[in-house]
Amino acid sequence: MSARDTQLVASIDIGTTSSRAILFNRKGQEIAKHQIEYSTTANTSADGEVKVFSAEGITITATEDLEIENENDSKGPTLRFPEPGWVEVKPAHVLANGIQCLAACVVSLDHINKKRADAGEKPYSIASIGIANMRETTIVWDAKTGRSLNYGIVWNDTRTSEIVNKKKAEVSAERLEELRQKSGVPVSTYFSASKLRWLIDNDSEVKALYDAGELMFGTVDTWLIYHLTKEHAHVSDVTNASRTQFMDISTFKYDDELLQLWDIDQTKVQLPKIVSSSERYGSFSVPDLAKLGYSGALSTAAVEKLNTIAGIPIAGCLGDQSASLVGQLALKQGAAKCTYGTGCFLLYNTGNKTLISKHGALTTVGYWFPSLGENDGAPHYALEGSIAVAGSVVQWLRDNLKLISAAQDIGPLASQVPNTGGAVFVPAFSGLFAPYWDSEARGTILGLTQYTTAAHIARAALEGVCYQARAILKAMASDAGAQGDFLEQAVGTYEKAPLSLLAVDGGMSKSDEVMQIQADILGPCVTVRRSPNAEATALGAAIAAGMASTKAEDRLWDNLEDVISAIGGESTGDFVSQSVDTERRRAWTLWERAVERASGWIS
Ligand code: G3P
Repeated sequence: MSARDTQLVASIDIGTTSSRAILFNRKGQEIAKHQIEYSTTANTSADGEVKVFSAEGITITATEDLEIENENDSKGPTLRFPEPGWVEVKPAHVLANGIQCLAACVVSLDHINKKRADAGEKPYSIASIGIANMRETTIVWDAKTGRSLNYGIVWNDTRTSEIVNKKKAEVSAERLEELRQKSGVPVSTYFSASKLRWLIDNDSEVKALYDAGELMFGTVDTWLIYHLTKEHAHVSDVTNASRTQFMDISTFKYDDELLQLWDIDQTKVQLPKIVSSSERYGSFSVPDLAKLGYSGALSTAAVEKLNTIAGIPIAGCLGDQSASLVGQLALKQGAAKCTYGTGCFLLYNTGNKTLISKHGALTTVGYWFPSLGENDGAPHYALEGSIAVAGSVVQWLRDNLKLISAAQDIGPLASQVPNTGGAVFVPAFSGLFAPYWDSEARGTILGLTQYTTAAHIARAALEGVCYQARAILKAMASDAGAQGDFLEQAVGTYEKAPLSLLAVDGGMSKSDEVMQIQADILGPCVTVRRSPNAEATALGAAIAAGMASTKAEDRLWDNLEDVISAIGGESTGDFVSQSVDTERRRAWTLWERAVERASGWIS
């Protein structure tokens, strides 16, 4: 057994609706894990529910060990929807949730190490910490106090529709196209730029600090690293920075023209330094949550536990979709992955080249591990198809319509019926993202009759997500120069690398029923394959952190080949289409008609 076998990487993964921390070993196995689901309604918080499980068979309740208190009822939930189209998050809660998960893992590790000692085995130790996070979500804070101002505006919030529409009306289409090519992303409510503009325009405290040059900006990665490092490192990894719409996708620098587009003055707002996905950003230290306005508390026991890992480097960071690209081991040009989380995101690794889509896909940064030298260490890019609503439509059916009592009930409900009975559901709660890019579309259900049941609606909702994945694959194939309909003809895609396999992970991918619906919609040319790494996002951040040293002997893996062979794993399910050709085509036409109806609804 080498020293590497007892080294672990702690990964903190802050998603849109839950946070988790996981300790991974070199084989990518989960040694300890803890997850907190955010509450979205005051007084019914799940925020404080703390459970820990360990992959080595020890189950403890962290609340007993840590006496964690969680602010929930009095100050409202972590995630809230205060007005139609608004999605907000409490920055201090996000931070608290992340470190509570980490504390719970450290407690778990103590138990595991005691057990190992009894068995005469060497203890595990945490070598570094990696971070994965929901992207684009925009947080501003006071440079003097570190306290956040206002709420964080979440990526799928559409309050900036007007700002975006005004921008589109004022600026010529040619100019917008130039700027899209420079940033990799179109003008949309999705990215951080319009959200920062809104905060400056609508919050007098934010405006005052902006005018005084004391406003700090960041996405969730920046907010976390700023408060979790002793040095208060104000950084953003390039995969996150590429989602602000302020960064030039080729130079990895903030761009004056992009900032001017949004009237953002770089001398007034402190933008984070853009860094790679894998390097030492700073040393872990426990933040003082009370000073940040968090009235729930970390117990003395929790702080003591966390202090035992103080000084460990925070050394890896990836936006969550880039993280799952890495965690799914889609590390080479031509590999692709699709993650069904709150939204659904399909990333296609285009290697060291930026491919600018002509069909609605985004150009984004996959990962950048400079410690790996010339080849593996060069930045890797990806084409991305983003779907705003995936798991969130399931959550909506559960919480708002009460059609199901638990998310996992959706698959069984939908498969009570063989089809939707003519219903088509376009779940455009946050407008439509790729490949449509329509901020003014809204959720639409068409084709209802007296015959329609809850099962039909559930099935139509799932199909609405899966149709968008098909539209994205079609757009990407068109970008790759495929002739005709890629999905029908099984031709290759980008530079002839075949995309006959869609590697999936994330919540909805756990359902056999949902993945069969996806396979049926894609048709016979694409196999849907469930990833062996259920927590691909967290694993990706762990890989980034484990790769940070420029000395191979100090890394957890030698290089990317070593990552692939050490982690590997067998698929946990393949799904192939059982749909009838003519029916599949007819259903697709209905979907396209429904998208037309949903488009421009609020204009
Ligand atoms: O771009 C938004 C994305 O990063 C959110 O991911 O997993 O919370 O749906 P998720």
